[in-house]
Amino acid sequence: MKIVKSPQELQKICLSLVRKNKSIGLVPTMGALHAGHISLIKKSVSQNDVTVVSVYVNPIQFGPDEDYNKYPRPIENDIKICKENKVDFLFLPTNETLYGKKFLTYVATEEISKIMCGVTRPIHFRGVTTVVSKLLNISLADRAYFGLKDYQQYIIIKKMVEDLNIRTKIIGCPIVREKTGIALSSRNTYLKPEAKSEANGIYAALCKAKKEFSDGKTLSAIKKNLEKNILKINDSKIDYVELRNADTLEPATKDDKKVLVAVAVKVGNVRLIDNTVCSK
Ligand code: PAF
Repeated sequence: MKIVKSPQELQKICLSLVRKNKSIGLVPTMGALHAGHISLIKKSVSQNDVTVVSVYVNPIQFGPDEDYNKYPRPIENDIKICKENKVDFLFLPTNETLYGKKFLTYVATEEISKIMCGVTRPIHFRGVTTVVSKLLNISLADRAYFGLKDYQQYIIIKKMVEDLNIRTKIIGCPIVREKTGIALSSRNTYLKPEAKSEANGIYAALCKAKKEFSDGKTLSAIKKNLEKNILKINDSKIDYVELRNADTLEPATKDDKKVLVAVAVKVGNVRLIDNTVCSK
């Protein structure tokens, strides 16, 4: 595995791979790699000639009061995981190499960046779409892999790629959970053991909502019960509970065949997101 720090160098390497007709898979991450990331890497390795993983805690997707400084950065372990999983290139840019001294250009996907997580994190998705468009341009990826825990991010990136005629195929990969139910996230390390065990209740509540959907309950009843079940979790505070069309993120209607049930919940002082997609 080769570690590349310079965007120019990686782009040069990837251009020569494209010229040799090699397919390139990109797994963009912020590091603190866990089994969820490993599932993305494995998928990329199985579908492409070459896999590039980026590890970069992107400052422009964090609000001023968010956890940019304390975000976990166990880089040695990340390198080990990438090596063990047959990654070809590990991209480790820095703020200086990626954004330079005076960065002026942003990519923003309107409307769907303003709802759900965008309400309390108003600059978050603009930071994500900007960095992901840079990573796609640098890696010239044929395919890029994203976990569906960040479902809104996945839909926004798919829309960005469609709107900007970027040739990369965006591939959403299933949420990986602990046996107890909690969705894997690098931020789970912030949870104290007791809060972590309480947080398993989020998945249990989503499973109940899914069952109610297949039993034909109305969307408003499903939402009400989900809120009630989440509030049974000790020390929990709902940021949002939303039922949306799983393809467009428009508010769900009774005619939608695929409905996203998504939640953002604070357990103690840790904000967690999770979701499930219900199909007719
Ligand atoms: O999902 C993430 O880890 C980040 O938002 C991403 C896509 C790597 C962009 O920084």
